[in-house]
Amino acid sequence: MTRKKLIAGNWKMNGARATAAVLAEDVKSGSAGFACDIAVCPPFIYLHAVGKIVADSHIALGGQNCSDKDDGAFTGDTSAAMLADYGCSYVIIGHSERRQYHGESDGGVKSKASKAISKGLVPIICVGETEAQRDKGETLGVISRQLDGGIPESATGRNCVIAYEPVWAIGTGKVATEAEIMQVHEFIRGHMKSRLAESDNLRIIYGGSVKPDNAAVILKLDNVDGALVGGASLKAADFLAIARAA
Ligand code: PGA
Repeated sequence: MTRKKLIAGNWKMNGARATAAVLAEDVKSGSAGFACDIAVCPPFIYLHAVGKIVADSHIALGGQNCSDKDDGAFTGDTSAAMLADYGCSYVIIGHSERRQYHGESDGGVKSKASKAISKGLVPIICVGETEAQRDKGETLGVISRQLDGGIPESATGRNCVIAYEPVWAIGTGKVATEAEIMQVHEFIRGHMKSRLAESDNLRIIYGGSVKPDNAAVILKLDNVDGALVGGASLKAADFLAIARAA
């Protein structure tokens, strides 16, 4: 089964109005004709500006989080419907930084992902173990708990993406080995097979210090259907080099 690869840039809380626009322009103009799907996920406040630049292009727009509520008195939150209204087609859910700094639980991830799907967004649901969990041999147990607790009943292989992001590899320059990546991706594929309709279509992407110099090796591994790119997505040349490798 060939699945079209997805290269998604997670800009996190970086940039300014002017730099976000330049980055979006450069990514758009530099990736025409690429074989993979490409998405950029800017900070909420730049979604409108970036959305105008990538509208009607091959570049998709994504949010970095959303609320599990429809609307109401939830100060500081942004709903899935608002993201869709601004042209988003993806939303990152359950990133380890949200789990770590905002106490997001698997149950919270599940209800956010469910809301996203109900509004027509594709959630990129993040799972991954910490270094301590890996050292204790708990990696697959952690991943299976996060999948069972975080993937909503409405998910199918077509309407969601799973990102495997070992926490210890995010922003550290430490990349998981090929064997480590393959083991977890194969595990996720097997685990989701009986639990997800159309599971053959499920894209399982890797994240954690993906750079131009390691992208080609990672992206050719079995069951690696793309990458969630943090730091390297902030430089158009680096992000484009990764997408070109896909
Ligand atoms: P990184 O971040 O590429 O900077 O390691 C990846 C992510 O957090 O999605």
